[in-house]
Amino acid sequence: MDARLLTGADFWSLREAPEIGLRRIVVSDGPAGVRGETWDERSPSANVPAPTALAASWDVARVERVARLLAFECRRKGVDVLLAPTVNLHRTPYGGRHFECFSEDPYLTGAIGAAFVRGLQEEGVAATVKHFVANDSETERFTLDAIVDERTLRELYALPFELILAADPWAVMAAYNRVNGTTMTDSPLIQSLLREEWGYDGVVMSDWGATRSADAAVDLAMPGPDSPLDPPDVEVRVARLVALAERVSAKDATAWSDAEIAAELRAAAADGFVLARNHGSLLPLTGSSLRKVAVIGPNGADARTLGGGSATVYPPYTVSPLEGLRAALPHAEVAFAPGVKAHTRLPVAKVTAMLDGTEQRETGEFIWFGDPRTVEVRTTITAEAAGEHVIGASGVGRFTLTLDGTVVLEEELTLGPDADPGEQLFAPPQRGVPITVEAGQTVDVVLRAEGVTAFQLNHDPPFPDTGLEDAVALAREADLVVIVVGTTPEVESEGFDRSSLALPGAQDELIRRVTDANPKTVVVVNAGAPVLMPWIKQAPAVLLTWFGGQEAGNAIADVILGAVEPGGRLPTTWPASEDGLPSVQPVDGVLTYSEGLKVGYRGDVVPLFPFGHGLGYSEWRYLAMDGARVRLANTGTRGGREVVQIYASKPDSAVERPARWLVGFAVVEAAAGEEVIVDVPLSPRAFDHWADGAWQREPGEFVLEAGRSVADLKLSSSWS
Ligand code: BGC
Repeated sequence: MDARLLTGADFWSLREAPEIGLRRIVVSDGPAGVRGETWDERSPSANVPAPTALAASWDVARVERVARLLAFECRRKGVDVLLAPTVNLHRTPYGGRHFECFSEDPYLTGAIGAAFVRGLQEEGVAATVKHFVANDSETERFTLDAIVDERTLRELYALPFELILAADPWAVMAAYNRVNGTTMTDSPLIQSLLREEWGYDGVVMSDWGATRSADAAVDLAMPGPDSPLDPPDVEVRVARLVALAERVSAKDATAWSDAEIAAELRAAAADGFVLARNHGSLLPLTGSSLRKVAVIGPNGADARTLGGGSATVYPPYTVSPLEGLRAALPHAEVAFAPGVKAHTRLPVAKVTAMLDGTEQRETGEFIWFGDPRTVEVRTTITAEAAGEHVIGASGVGRFTLTLDGTVVLEEELTLGPDADPGEQLFAPPQRGVPITVEAGQTVDVVLRAEGVTAFQLNHDPPFPDTGLEDAVALAREADLVVIVVGTTPEVESEGFDRSSLALPGAQDELIRRVTDANPKTVVVVNAGAPVLMPWIKQAPAVLLTWFGGQEAGNAIADVILGAVEPGGRLPTTWPASEDGLPSVQPVDGVLTYSEGLKVGYRGDVVPLFPFGHGLGYSEWRYLAMDGARVRLANTGTRGGREVVQIYASKPDSAVERPARWLVGFAVVEAAAGEEVIVDVPLSPRAFDHWADGAWQREPGEFVLEAGRSVADLKLSSSWS
């Protein structure tokens, strides 16, 4: 049997061998949507809320449905295998791919991940559970050696994979990093844990470029066409690929109309929004009472709907908070002021461009895979405002920029010697040239890029010195202010970790000044991961919207105006400060998970908002609990949705344990005044701990507590 079958044909497809039942199989990223084989605006993809946002819904039925929608997107784009879900943990909020993972809790991750796998595969598309294992940060990601003790590995980082195997995922992806000395594509954990102990019979593929040896433990080395993989048992591995081909050829996915997709994504976004604070019940607001609304902040008119890196897709459209509020408030004046600038790198130019004189494109960003090319892009940039505009180029290659017939830049841009190869896409080197123009003036732009596989034409218009004052003045006149702040692709993306949890730029100052000017302010945080909130006491309402997908702006309007409840609960502790958070900086190539089991709420980090926290618009009274059966009532004045959470603890345990840990959760809905009884399903590992090389259950009673977050528990029962 030909060992070359074990390596991809190219970046996104497997080799075919019809004589043995192996048709061409196409794989594609990733959790936020289905990219397909081309990665640009010509092949748009429905952009679903980011994984953290999906997990924040705590709603397995919702996640299953979103995954079904993704299965349809896969079929529409000729994709058989989706490279998702990402089930690494939120070990620390510094992790660059935090937005792409579900939670700091292994059970919540496992339950949401299993729902994602079921939704995809019931529609005939393969899921790829990634990245096995301990791939929880980005710094030196290809080589770092994560040192994780056995108990921590079993109880935290491996547990989501173990739980998701119950949903029978057809593929698993082995990570780039090492764990306890061995690179994951060669790791004995693939054979001893995944295959033998857990009985996994699906395909194990490498992460892109992760295969290091001829006898690596993976069935499939990606991407192709070159890899060192040439193991002795080619037949066994090819048989797994053939089985995958059969599985993904069995049926077609159910079709979704554009309207159905929009409705699902709008509801899914709101379901994941976490209302962290609602002082004086500012929210919800009645639309008819609003005459003038101020939308303020860098992300107000330009929503960030997804995180950076391989998860990036090109949505067919996006709805910004400004657009969402305008559509929901046709009789009010909804005005916008950015306030401050959050970016420092040059943004992609928003242009219609002519590539190589023949191809009309609606973007300033171009990506191919494969051989480097030389291309020329022509466009015009018309200045909206007078002043100094910066026009430039980003990428790896040789760039010649001509403005109005004059060559202003001629330079070879390269990556530093220690750069992550992904930087070429996620944070490419860039150069800009300032030019001063009048408002309305048009500049002819020609950019020649030699030896590139990806590049950008950049344009950074001038930001007015009066930005902050303009925003404050606008806020002062409004009946309601919605400030939308957040991270940028510069600070939150695959390929690097965050170095600070502060909001970039002067956004904290903007919030302080605006809430001083008008206390009727809702702060919307558009970030994939926790940020610091030094202004929290001044902000009456804080809504965490993550990266909410293409319908985020409509969902923000729905929640602010009370058309729907904010359904989300924090899937991860929101820390009060940066004190005591696990580091992502390897020392001599080694990253020791020295916090052990003390991750997130299991540890000593002081929360600003605890794990599981999130407010709705109704009131709930927890009435009684028997084992894992909970009776509660909606005592509010409107119908509501509640996430009932159950945590276990073991007083006087002989084993060192966290104070309490999540063992079950369920979403309930009830009309005003209605009572509900829910049997909360418990994790199969709810009461187990790892010791002496095996799962153990400590004898005696465990305490179960039910409530609204790890810090707001209402009832208890015992379990033995
Ligand atoms: C990422 C994977 C992704 C792959 C293909 C890698 O750099 O780590 O998550 O699926 O690229 O884009």
